[in-house]
Amino acid sequence: MNTQTHRAIGVFDSGIGGLTVVRALMERLPFENIIYFGDTARVPYGIKSVETINRYAAQITDFLIKQDVKMLVVACNTMAAVAHQTIVDLSHVPVAAIASQTIVESVPVLEVIDASARMAVQNSKTKSIGVIGTPATINSNAYARAIHLLDRDARVFSQACPLFVPLVEEGWFDHPATRLIAQEYLKPVIAEQVDTLVLGCTHYPLLKPLLQEIMGSSVKLIDSAEAMADIAADLIDQKKIGNIDGKPADYTFYVSDLPYRFQTIGERFLGRTLGRVELKSL
Ligand code: DGL
Repeated sequence: MNTQTHRAIGVFDSGIGGLTVVRALMERLPFENIIYFGDTARVPYGIKSVETINRYAAQITDFLIKQDVKMLVVACNTMAAVAHQTIVDLSHVPVAAIASQTIVESVPVLEVIDASARMAVQNSKTKSIGVIGTPATINSNAYARAIHLLDRDARVFSQACPLFVPLVEEGWFDHPATRLIAQEYLKPVIAEQVDTLVLGCTHYPLLKPLLQEIMGSSVKLIDSAEAMADIAADLIDQKKIGNIDGKPADYTFYVSDLPYRFQTIGERFLGRTLGRVELKSL
């Protein structure tokens, strides 16, 4: 494996929601360079077909692999739910040819679903776990599968919350309309008396205070961004690929479109000023 530790972590998402994952990575791994790709021209993915999401995910993976990233972080729950295998298939990169043998480097792929499922299983005492996400994520059943692989006895209650993404993009984190919609979506999940709720979408961490209030303080909310940062840190440690060049970390943000209010919304997700933003259509 190419062990140049200064190589960036490639993070990708369907839009700018994945900046919640970048934010968690910056806090957890402050010396790591990051290259982010957000498909702002084609967001949202959560209501698109499996075929389309796979095609888009393949294009982004290809782009980031060409940027020579040392690790791929799939921030988008929707892509992780339906396109994980496509991304893994594209992560094996030929790096050299010796005699007639091709040497292949496999760039590690981390995705939010496995990370959050682990955290949910560790935290749940009653083994009743709620999961909220986009329609594509919930319909894929990926969270329930991941949780059951870790604990066969866990009971999983899933709920699609399609209106949350536009509400968050609008900045309506505690708006009466958001509250009403959240109460409606969460009603069946509350009825199942879950003790843990997975926020299975890049946008939902921004609704955390409201969702916590509606669910009640005894319910543990699993933030997929934090879960992701934890497993990224573990993998970097384990593979000894942490950046040791001593320079301040470099962040590059690629987007496929620069939509209206991009800067404002992006900085809200990132929690700080967005650095260099470059336009890149795939
Ligand atoms: N990034 C998506 C996710 O985490 C939410 C936005 C979208 O639907 O594309 O599921």
